[in-house]
Amino acid sequence: MHFPFTLAVAAASVAPTALAATYSLSDNHVGSDFLSSFVHEAIADPTHGRVNYVDQATAIAQNLTYASGNTLILRADSKATLDPSGPGRNSVRIRSQKTYTTHVTVFDIAHMPEGCGTWPAAWETAETGWPDLGEVDISPNAMTLHTNANCNMPASRAQTGNPTSNVCDIVASGNTGCGVQSTTPNSFGPPFNAIGGGFYAMERTNSFIKVWFWQRSDGSTPGDLKGGASSINTDAWGTPNALFPNTDCDLASHFGPNNIIIDLTFCGDWAGIPSIFNGAGCAAFVNQNPSAFANAFWQINAVRVYT
Ligand SMILES: *[C@@H]1O[C@H](CO)[C@@H](O)[C@H](O)[C@H]1NC(C)=O
Repeated sequence: MHFPFTLAVAAASVAPTALAATYSLSDNHVGSDFLSSFVHEAIADPTHGRVNYVDQATAIAQNLTYASGNTLILRADSKATLDPSGPGRNSVRIRSQKTYTTHVTVFDIAHMPEGCGTWPAAWETAETGWPDLGEVDISPNAMTLHTNANCNMPASRAQTGNPTSNVCDIVASGNTGCGVQSTTPNSFGPPFNAIGGGFYAMERTNSFIKVWFWQRSDGSTPGDLKGGASSINTDAWGTPNALFPNTDCDLASHFGPNNIIIDLTFCGDWAGIPSIFNGAGCAAFVNQNPSAFANAFWQINAVRVYT
């Protein structure tokens, strides 16, 4: 194990605190690794999107999932015009085989799905018994916790983003959860893709959950995170975009083992509502305009998990 000299000296007197921010690389998901370390979930979309999630064999046969070298592409079909009474647009949802409790996940993303009606997400949860083991939405447009009862966030926190709600309980919040919007430019959508994307990272402990975002070319991006180091020190990563402390939410009892999930759906409970889609008719748009989804793809360089 290696850590900076100053930290090593401090460790003698305050070891638990000082060492808590040092993690070792546990899982390095890159390229074709995703085909064995994640499962393609051919399930009905729990968020009721105009989507047809396909299995891995179908995704590869249709080139919706493409893994090679340091590249993983996950995309929607952009060829078929759909029968309104038939299934939705073919797309992909993958879930890690492993579950994680306290850990850091780093997402190195080159491109995320864009376009009217698209709803991409990189997040962590346990699908069985949801939301009793918690949910952390990491990317793209909001950093949000969804929990069961009695989990709230303080109004004032050491974070750079803007909170939109401080109530994490899905019942009390109407399932909006407690969200924080990043104020860092280019954190999602076409502007994110135009700059070659960037890095999202989430640290989960029993004391706090933090989420950071850095643009790819941001000179302040931590070297250990950017370079895929074998060990990282999150204490050196600075103020997060979102901080969810345990002051009014016992994180240890609201969160359990979670899977990492990356998906792309359309319309549904969020992207389909008129205020987000900018009118009615999201599903009809998805049915009739396959070419509008040519840029509806994830290009992921790596997902690294540190424990
Ligand atoms: C599959 O997708 C990849 C990535 O976009 C592309 O390079 C490749 O040519 C595609 N393969 C086929 C057979 O279309």
